[in-house]
Amino acid sequence: MALWGGRFGTQINQELAGFSESVSFDQRLYKYDIMGSKAHTAMLAARGIIPHQAADAITAELDKIEKRIDAGNFTFSAELEDIHLHIENALIAKLGDEGARVHSARSRNDQIALDIRLYLRDVIAGITAGLRDFQRALVDQADRNGDAVMPGFTHLQHAQPVLFGHHLLAYVEMFERDLERLTDCAGRTNVMPLGSGALAGSTLKIDREMVCGMLKFSRLTRNSMDAVADRDFTIELLSCLAIFAMHVSRLSEDVILWCSQEFDFIELDDAFCTGSSLMPQKKNPDIAELSRGKTARIYGSLTALLTLCKGLPLTYNRDLQEDKEPLFDAIDTVEKILHIYPSMIATMKIKRDKMLAAASDPALMATDLAEKLVEMGIPFRHAHHRVGAFVKWCQNNRRALNEASLEEMQQTIPEATAEFLTLFSPENSVAKREITGATGPNAVAAQIAFWKERLTER
Ligand code: ARG
Repeated sequence: MALWGGRFGTQINQELAGFSESVSFDQRLYKYDIMGSKAHTAMLAARGIIPHQAADAITAELDKIEKRIDAGNFTFSAELEDIHLHIENALIAKLGDEGARVHSARSRNDQIALDIRLYLRDVIAGITAGLRDFQRALVDQADRNGDAVMPGFTHLQHAQPVLFGHHLLAYVEMFERDLERLTDCAGRTNVMPLGSGALAGSTLKIDREMVCGMLKFSRLTRNSMDAVADRDFTIELLSCLAIFAMHVSRLSEDVILWCSQEFDFIELDDAFCTGSSLMPQKKNPDIAELSRGKTARIYGSLTALLTLCKGLPLTYNRDLQEDKEPLFDAIDTVEKILHIYPSMIATMKIKRDKMLAAASDPALMATDLAEKLVEMGIPFRHAHHRVGAFVKWCQNNRRALNEASLEEMQQTIPEATAEFLTLFSPENSVAKREITGATGPNAVAAQIAFWKERLTER
């Protein structure tokens, strides 16, 4: 008979048990469930709600149960529904009446809310560390090869030369925002719901503050109905993960383009690629493609939880059991990406010559000509127009911009001087962009130094 079976006449059949169970996936919460039960038990004894002797027995038995689960010596079965009932059942099986006291002033509704919050605190800490490693891999790569000059793109068209390091550090900035969002989310996750009971608290004089302190939460939930119904913190985490995955997906798209034959800017280490079962010459950037692809399932998890919660009346509804699989799947996916991706960045080879060659079309320096005219006092719109006319002249005469003589240039840009003919080097173009936040070598070196210091601080 199930632990909640007092009012039931028949036992649940196997098919229904299979439909109802969550232990196949919520068993991953067992350490947190036990941690919560130990704090709850200590509090019950401190308040005289259960005898100290029972509390000691429960605590000792919980430790044994934890070790059994650690070692894989614990049987899970659908009939016992979830991790909470499994652990309580195991206590009662060993301790009888003493074990039967643990669930005083507690419901699985506040228990599961507690378990997820405890679990997510650790998850967020782990993902935060993983994100820092990812940033480190990007900054290291920028430190080693960041001075390579490459074309920067807008509309996926060659726009202006930039430093490779500048491009990489753009992703470091994105991941920093991801970290800020995670930290913010951690604050709202770190709130203690136990004591909310099924929805209305308890008539027993429990000490919620004590449990809060033992489990190192920053504060108590203030409203028991909200506490058992709230899954905002899971949705927030999923939205943080979805945005992070979107950033990884964009990086993946860059990496995939860079190692295509058309770009040919980098070569990925063989370990991160696979071949084709048909075409012998192929080397495919699968890890980047899969990371881009897996972003879809993380979005799926976020959408699933938003949809799950939107129609639920207060307070707890069994629907909420469906929060776990999408949440766990997104976490597992992000953890895998964080585990693999930084080494792919660390080991990729940069083809500086190819990057520079692609950035060497003098058309990429057209803006530099216009800005030179502005320096000479010409209003920018007129400068833009003159350089545009020069570009057109070059096209009509089948010349690259640096193949026109000064006299030819002066037909469309009357103010042009000999200096204008020297403006077509991508290295010089980059070198002149030294304002804060720009792609000049010193500006980028300062950004690299900033990140190196920041990443060693933590
Ligand atoms: N397995 C449940 C869940 O994940 C735990 C809470 C069950 N509460 C209940 N009243 N049946 O949400």
